[in-house]
Amino acid sequence: MFSSDPSKRNSFKRRICDGDLVIVYERHDNMKAIKIKVGLDFQNRYGVFKHSDWIGKPFGSKVFSNKGGFVHLLFPTPELWTLVLSHRTQILYLADISFVISYLEVVPGCVVLESGTGSGSLTTSLARAVAPSGHVYTFDFHEQRAALAREDFIMNGLESFITVSVRDIQGEGFPDEFCRVVDSVFLDLPQPWLALPSAARMLKQDGVLCSFSPCIEQVQRSCETLRHNFTDVRTFEVLLRMYEIREGRMEVGRNGGPMVLKPHKKRQHLSSEGECEDEERPTIMVKPCNEARGHTGYLTFARLACT
Ligand SMILES: C[S@@+](CC[C@H](N)C(=O)[O-])C[C@H]1O[C@@H](n2cnc3c(N)ncnc32)[C@H](O)[C@@H]1O
Repeated sequence: MFSSDPSKRNSFKRRICDGDLVIVYERHDNMKAIKIKVGLDFQNRYGVFKHSDWIGKPFGSKVFSNKGGFVHLLFPTPELWTLVLSHRTQILYLADISFVISYLEVVPGCVVLESGTGSGSLTTSLARAVAPSGHVYTFDFHEQRAALAREDFIMNGLESFITVSVRDIQGEGFPDEFCRVVDSVFLDLPQPWLALPSAARMLKQDGVLCSFSPCIEQVQRSCETLRHNFTDVRTFEVLLRMYEIREGRMEVGRNGGPMVLKPHKKRQHLSSEGECEDEERPTIMVKPCNEARGHTGYLTFARLACT
């Protein structure tokens, strides 16, 4: 995903090599992360694809199966990784992640503390944001989750930007070695207020903290504690509305009912100028998706008060 070797930087020009992690994209809602290995096949409803046929192709290539079906081979960005990772916990999704990274003011060179690591969804994006000179120190008290997250970060080539440690942050706080050297702290913990005094000790003057909580009662309790050391306390809920875009032709419904969109039969030919002319121009319909992703949680941000 991200390499400390400049010749292998996150680039869509880079060609796929044996051992690379690739996102096999069928549709926006059907993707899979696989590791390329000569001799292995990838199989789906469109047929069989040989890994060896993919080696040497640039990321973004469209590749064909033995039956003429196709998939796209995408570069494993943090955005795509969040959509394909194995869920060992609840995770943060892109709307919250992008908001967190902006409001935490995470830029290359930053030192960030995070707890809990969970499935590493946020950690992956944090790592890219701090690279190439910053670092993310992430803590989870669950040993197996920490170990699996570490494996994922290695697989994504992020290990030089992330250190995963096993620690009870609510009970013990963050390690003293981080005192006053941290730019931002992110908490996704069941009782974040227990970790706030420690987070305040870790932050540099003017540093920013964010706490993610699914319930408003957790937010209220955290805000009570934040009043002691922090200023500019603000809580947000990020709601994402997606739209469906469909092509078709409008027809009067059955028995003269309301207009309905029917599938468009594509019959195109080129004009003398070489432009595409439709015999029957499609209607583009844009409407909000029925299945809207609702509440994920509340994001509470606060800045360390100057002393
Ligand atoms: C919801 S998950 C975090 C998900 C993560 N933000 C992501 O995007 O993948 C919460 C994590 O906090 C960890 N956790 C809970 N209590 C903890 C504590 N006291 N100290 C450290 N980690 C803790 C859990 O083991 C769990 O993995």
